[in-house]
Amino acid sequence: MPVSDPSALPPLLLAWYDRAGRDLPWRKKHGEVADPYHVWLSEVMLQQTTVVAVAPYFRKFVERWPTVGALAAASEDEVMHAWAGLGYYARARNLHACAKVVASWRDGRFPDDEDSLRKLPGVGDYTAAAIAAIAFGRRAVVMDGNVERVMARLFAVTDPLPGVKPRLKALAAQLTPDFRPGDYAQAVMDLGATICTPRNPACVLCPWMAACAGSRQGIAASLPAKLAKPERPTRHGTAFWAIRKDGAVLIRRRPPQGLLGGMMEIPSTPWRETPWNPDELAAEQPLPGQWRALPGLVRHTFTHFHLELKLVAAKTAGSAIAHGLWVPLDKLGDHALPSVMGKVIRHALAKAY
Ligand code: ADE
Repeated sequence: MPVSDPSALPPLLLAWYDRAGRDLPWRKKHGEVADPYHVWLSEVMLQQTTVVAVAPYFRKFVERWPTVGALAAASEDEVMHAWAGLGYYARARNLHACAKVVASWRDGRFPDDEDSLRKLPGVGDYTAAAIAAIAFGRRAVVMDGNVERVMARLFAVTDPLPGVKPRLKALAAQLTPDFRPGDYAQAVMDLGATICTPRNPACVLCPWMAACAGSRQGIAASLPAKLAKPERPTRHGTAFWAIRKDGAVLIRRRPPQGLLGGMMEIPSTPWRETPWNPDELAAEQPLPGQWRALPGLVRHTFTHFHLELKLVAAKTAGSAIAHGLWVPLDKLGDHALPSVMGKVIRHALAKAY
């Protein structure tokens, strides 16, 4: 089948989706009406995060906050805490800000067109298009990494990302149907996630195989081409594990802006590319004490860098300190600690005693 007849492709894909689409907690079956709150929440969670990681968080959020009004009424800290572990924490702050706008200015109703959706905190091109299509049945061109990959292969586009993005979007737009636009958007994403996968695409199972120029030319697996990314640098820091005589540990809140903004942390030096030498650490200590180095390192990878954290520990009387909170060990789980701090805590507990 020639790709020059694009109108044949959506029905083929939708038939596949009805048969083989994934069963996801926020997803409605063909003919059922999606709740815009569920669609928005799931799509914000799915930015940069996989379906598998998102599913338990989605369930937890809708159980605890069944409506956008309930989420708006939560404190920011409760939301950040419930988000802990999902990463990219600016999303959680924007989620809460967006819930407040929708609950108070819009009477709990999400706007139903892409332009108005894009004005909401944390809602960019992708999320606006996804909500308009999935929650409101509007024709919208939903572009994420899966869709880009599928388009690059279907049309055998060999120019590299990111420069080729507008061209891939134009190709996707040409294909997007007026009917079942929400199911279609999700079907392309499912195809990318389950069949047209980055490595070893399962072309023989693909409903678009006969039309796929990339498959026909034997180049599908190599697409989309990407400009080589610069290496991730390694940053270094030292975290201070301060434990009081009664067993409480010192944590503090990170500044609202920047990486892990607003989340809690075990106090730490800034993270920089030059390793810290021991003489510099005195000025960084959260409180005076007999700090001793713990063996080993905590490693964590963020989008733009690898982090190597050394740990120092001190037993302290824990008198006056300016910023921070003493938390009993068994209550650390009540705070919004990101994954990297979970690693720090486990390392400290394993090495400090
Ligand atoms: N990735 C992001 N949103 C998705 C959705 N609604 N369906 C499938 N994959 C997705």
